[in-house]
Amino acid sequence: MKIEQLISQEEIQSRVKEIGAQISKDYAGEEICLICVLKGGIMFMVDLAKEITIPVTMDFMAVSSYGNEQVSSGIVKIVKDLDDPIEGKHVLIVEDIIDSGRTLHYLINMLKERNPASIEICTLLDKPEQRLVDVPVAYVGFVIPDQFVLGYGLDYEQRYRNLPYVGVVKPEKE
Ligand code: IMP
Ligand code: MG
Repeated sequence: MKIEQLISQEEIQSRVKEIGAQISKDYAGEEICLICVLKGGIMFMVDLAKEITIPVTMDFMAVSSYGNEQVSSGIVKIVKDLDDPIEGKHVLIVEDIIDSGRTLHYLINMLKERNPASIEICTLLDKPEQRLVDVPVAYVGFVIPDQFVLGYGLDYEQRYRNLPYVGVVKPEKE
């Protein structure tokens, strides 16, 4: 499979630094609970957490919405729930990418019912062209065109998550 670099490791790192600084400023004097949406959000969350200077707790959640397809099934299933309650906490959901918006729409509404003090979304990538459900996003790393991307947490059939950059799949020439 031919992969072309879309966002370099350096670009990601400097944007992550900016977002971390912004979050530290926006939540100054508070503690935040970062919720990683597994598995895609993992690289972003660990790098982002290191750039946040206010107190942080971390929890993890796994949902499945895509199977191994490149198109959204629209079905969101909780595969792993949070370990701890979020009631009264300032929650920041950390995602790899928003496409149709279905996953985060479902997640944020579900988590709101647990009465957090506040709840916001931070996504590394945003593909607004295919949005079906409107979701409020507080922090966006990069807005990208409607292309299938991988790397830095994002997979293609569970592989390529370990690429340090975000790449796009190029069709093989005949
Ligand atoms: P949504 O529910 O359509 O917004 O889809 C969001 C989820 O689909 C993300 O958390 C990703 O796991 C996956 N996804 C969407 N677009 C891509 C992509 O281009 N590459 C890899 N995964 C993607
Ligand atoms: Mg994901």
